[in-house]
Amino acid sequence: MEKKIALVTGAGKGIGYEIARQLGKQGMEVLIGARSLPKAEEAAARLQAEQIEAKPIELDITNADHIRSAAEFISRKYGKLDVLVNNAGTFLDHEGTDVDVMRRSFETNFFGAYALTNALLDLIKASPAGRIVNQSSILGSMTTILTNEMFGRASAPAYTVSKAALNAWTAQLSITLRGTPVKVNACHPGWVKTDMGGKDAIMEIEEGAETAVYLATLPADGPSGGYFHKTEALPW
Ligand SMILES: NC(=O)c1ccc[n+]([C@@H]2O[C@H](COP(=O)([O-])OP(=O)(O)OC[C@H]3O[C@@H](n4cnc5c(N)ncnc54)[C@H](OP(=O)(O)O)[C@@H]3O)[C@@H](O)[C@H]2O)c1
Repeated sequence: MEKKIALVTGAGKGIGYEIARQLGKQGMEVLIGARSLPKAEEAAARLQAEQIEAKPIELDITNADHIRSAAEFISRKYGKLDVLVNNAGTFLDHEGTDVDVMRRSFETNFFGAYALTNALLDLIKASPAGRIVNQSSILGSMTTILTNEMFGRASAPAYTVSKAALNAWTAQLSITLRGTPVKVNACHPGWVKTDMGGKDAIMEIEEGAETAVYLATLPADGPSGGYFHKTEALPW
């Protein structure tokens, strides 16, 4: 069988690195997207030491030149992309509620994922079973904010609204992709011990990567246009 190619953004550390590791362990060739090339190279080298086929890619998802170069590289070298995990994300609400915080959050959490996916969509369609995973958060769920006291009080408008936009676009894209083999789903990893999640988080990184890996490896009869934690559907 032809080797599957996966691109994970924000894969230099945290949940993204672990998603790349778990996909690599399943035999995929993983492209390690990170904002700086040295960071991508360092992460790829650590994965190679575990016998994983990993390649570094300089990919700041807010940088149009990086996106163009990544798409050209994947097109030239592979002619297809089987898995795209839009994992890179940012949490800036501690900086305040100024509109600039909202804009910068959208740049990464929504526009970056949107621009990269658009640039790669023809390559994903060239795969026999393309899978797109949008790393969201439970905080992007409007139902949860309104009905769960703890999440409702979390008060992180920029993070919440930018992830809700990512969710809405996931649903929209799934409609556009109906009739193709490509599946797109949104993912809540859980509260995970990373630089973003903090040391009090309840999940280890290995477990935090599981939902994205599940959605990246869905079978042909798996769901599309959903929002998941583990294998459970979440309310939008
Ligand atoms: N941890 C949690 O509890 C939790 C819960 C729900 C959702 N999530 C989501 O899970 C994803 C991964 O988060 P994490 O917990 O692993 O956090 P993390 O350790 O802070 O990792 C975030 C990753 O995103 C990268 N990144 C940020 N802006 C980027 C950009 N413009 N272009 C490319 N990469 C960029 C970071 O790169 P640098 O190293 O260069 O900064 C880093 O690799 C995020 O989308 C986050 O919103 C996390």
